[in-house]
Amino acid sequence: MDKQLQTNVAHGLHGQLAVPGDKSISHRAIMIGSLATGDTLVHHFLTSADCLATLQAFKDLGVQIERQGDEVVVHGVGMHGLQPPHHALQMGNSGTTTRLMMGLLAGLAFDTTLIGDDSLSKRPMRRVSEPLREMGANIETTDGHLPVVVLGQPLTAAEIQLKVASAQVKSALIFAGLQATGKTVIHELLPTRDHSENMLKAFGADLEVSSDQMTIRVGQTDQLIAQTVQVPGDMSSAAFFMVAATLIPGSDVTLTNVGLNPSRRGLLDVLVQMGGRVEVSETVSAGESVGDIRVQSANLHPINLTAEQIPAIIDELPLVALLAAKADGISTIHGAEELRVKETDRIACVEQELGKLGANVKALPDGFVIDGRTPWQGHDTVLDSHGDHRIGMMLGLAALLVDRKLTLKHADAVGVSYPEFFDDLNTLLEA
Ligand code: S3P
Repeated sequence: MDKQLQTNVAHGLHGQLAVPGDKSISHRAIMIGSLATGDTLVHHFLTSADCLATLQAFKDLGVQIERQGDEVVVHGVGMHGLQPPHHALQMGNSGTTTRLMMGLLAGLAFDTTLIGDDSLSKRPMRRVSEPLREMGANIETTDGHLPVVVLGQPLTAAEIQLKVASAQVKSALIFAGLQATGKTVIHELLPTRDHSENMLKAFGADLEVSSDQMTIRVGQTDQLIAQTVQVPGDMSSAAFFMVAATLIPGSDVTLTNVGLNPSRRGLLDVLVQMGGRVEVSETVSAGESVGDIRVQSANLHPINLTAEQIPAIIDELPLVALLAAKADGISTIHGAEELRVKETDRIACVEQELGKLGANVKALPDGFVIDGRTPWQGHDTVLDSHGDHRIGMMLGLAALLVDRKLTLKHADAVGVSYPEFFDDLNTLLEA
């Protein structure tokens, strides 16, 4: 679907917005709720394509799940209650569903085939199947990609050093560890988002995280107890409006009830370092920090990011590139090679698409060099999300800063994580 983008906005974004539920937490609520004993209630579930793929996959595994809008009830079947599906499970575009399920299915008593869309079928899966093999898992990939066949096997605990900083890989191993005999020990390369650990602990799993967040110990767990999960607003969705409000003069926006988990809030630190005007009011709810974020427009300074800072801002890096392309100097982003294997090669896409607008963005193997002092003097009129939700939404904001008509190709990709994105943007622009 092509979409005519709003360009050249006269006055900024205003008002309050409660963004949809967190994508990572919504996936995990369905997965962990399914393995639990009892009914898990999920409030503010994200009803985007990715999370609905997870929901459908667990229905296909025999779990009864009821949904009304963003309220979900998962009737858990217990650690050993999933049933063999009648067909291959459709993962759609969702890397999180695929990778976490590879670990979750590896120790079961039946075989499962996982398939996905074209983009997902190009993404690397050996990063999950290889460490799982150290626990005795038998997973056949197709040259390292989907389709993947998980041949359920009894698993044995292992001590595993991760080779990539990835919450998806870590979580797959944690799910396998719940079913393996003995104590599985996982050493992270860098600390990554810890929603699996937080939620599993709340459901009663035998799981400990070291004080430096680098080591996770998981014991075999026979029973998880159903809980109520209040999903906070997704920081990665709020991020779009935080960036738009910063860049568009005269803006003053408050995003309410946003998840502020330390492993996800890198953009807040980056905005402050760049000279952004950000106020955060924070409370703790069910083990996760949540709060309201007020952002006003500001003039920006450049930033330099390195590998240690990347995991907490991984999904927001296309937005950081946009901020840097309007800052008063040269920014560098290093250590972000993971961007090359996201829904698209996000390094190449950001360079190409912001380049069409005249922004001075140079791709590096592991990031970018961006000179924000270069005036945007592009002439292209057609931008492309390349089917990547976060690239599409970032370009929707970039267009607001441009003074000519622009069309976005494959705009419907935003439905993967934020189907109402353009409506919510309009509401804040019209307020
Ligand atoms: C996610 C982890 C991240 C992130 C993705 C969601 C998760 O991927 O980019 O959008 O829910 O665990 P990696 O862990 O592979 O970096």
